Amino acid sequence: EKGGFEHFMLKEIMEQPRTFRDCLRGRLKAEEAYIKLGGIRDYIDEIISAKRILIIACGTSYHAGLVAKYLFEDLCGIPTDIDFASEFRYRKVVITERTVVLGISQSGETADTIVALEKAKKKGAKVLGICNVVGSSIARLTDAGVYTHVGVEIGVASTKAFTGQLAIIYMMALLIAKEKGSLEYEKYRHLVEEFDQIPDKIEQTLKNTYTAVEQISAACRTASSMIYLGRGLNYPIALEGALKLKEITYIHAEGYPAAEMKHGPIALIDENMFVVFIAPKDKTYEKIVSNIQEVKSRGGKVVALVTEGDKTIAKMADYTIEIPETDKIFTPVLNIIPLQMLSYQVAKLRECNIDQPRNLAKSVTVE
Ligand code: M6R
Repeated sequence: EKGGFEHFMLKEIMEQPRTFRDCLRGRLKAEEAYIKLGGIRDYIDEIISAKRILIIACGTSYHAGLVAKYLFEDLCGIPTDIDFASEFRYRKVVITERTVVLGISQSGETADTIVALEKAKKKGAKVLGICNVVGSSIARLTDAGVYTHVGVEIGVASTKAFTGQLAIIYMMALLIAKEKGSLEYEKYRHLVEEFDQIPDKIEQTLKNTYTAVEQISAACRTASSMIYLGRGLNYPIALEGALKLKEITYIHAEGYPAAEMKHGPIALIDENMFVVFIAPKDKTYEKIVSNIQEVKSRGGKVVALVTEGDKTIAKMADYTIEIPETDKIFTPVLNIIPLQMLSYQVAKLRECNIDQPRNLAKSVTVE
């Protein structure tokens, strides 16, 4: 059932061009600049007129939610907050009028997320969901929702479910922005066309980054700690990259917004520290370049994920991973691919139990 792969995690990483495409099937038609999300069709007016969106999730799903926060504010102009389900659950929360709550969960069975969403519902919010498992508890308790349709995910480390969640989030944000008129039609159309290319670009990313990732894995297999840095939409990807590394390789890792480094973590930098920078060509590019210099001048080892053809960072970094070019808003989807693979490769070199890491369960159904 591993389809010839050594581990489910590897199979699930490699499947992503297809699972991402499956997610788009019947929902996105690039030629007509058309996006349809049947599951939330009846709620679209409510979403458009929402005064606030509140996202609730745990773990990797929380990281997808963080990407959603940036997108809903950037493309749709809707104030968006995000909370860990376990925090929301035990806090006195203020749910104001016209708040739409969005729960994100691969399994649909995470105990904290279930209880948090029930709480939001009791407080009168409309509750939407993004789940992978059809008919799961969260899918049933939400007022409406969208399935990721990436198939069963077996590896404890979530990979294809994460990119599936991102696929839905991008379609939601684009659809809301179009309906709301917060995005010019031509820009919308262009983004839909670009987005349609993502499955092919995931495939290219898997192919083009393999050798670099293999070399980097060999170099950092004995590291005792690593730092992942990104900005804007790629800050959640830094968090997700670090989570993947911790879970399956047992190397301590931290994700940070790149500019926060100088507020503390920079003290950790020495010649043994690997720092992974997510550095696409976007509006914070120059800032990231100076963050890289700060690490280099303290002897840190820099691994940089850059846009294909970027020579500036390639000259400064110890290792570079070139990522196919896409619109800056879609870079998170491609950037996470080599980071998943890096964790996988390092875990393999360290002979870890990749599909069943110690102390972890696929779904956390207890508190
Ligand atoms: O099934 P869920 O999406 O609700 O699960 C949430 C987390 O438990 C999950 O993402 C966890 O962090 C993964 N092991 C990450 O790879």
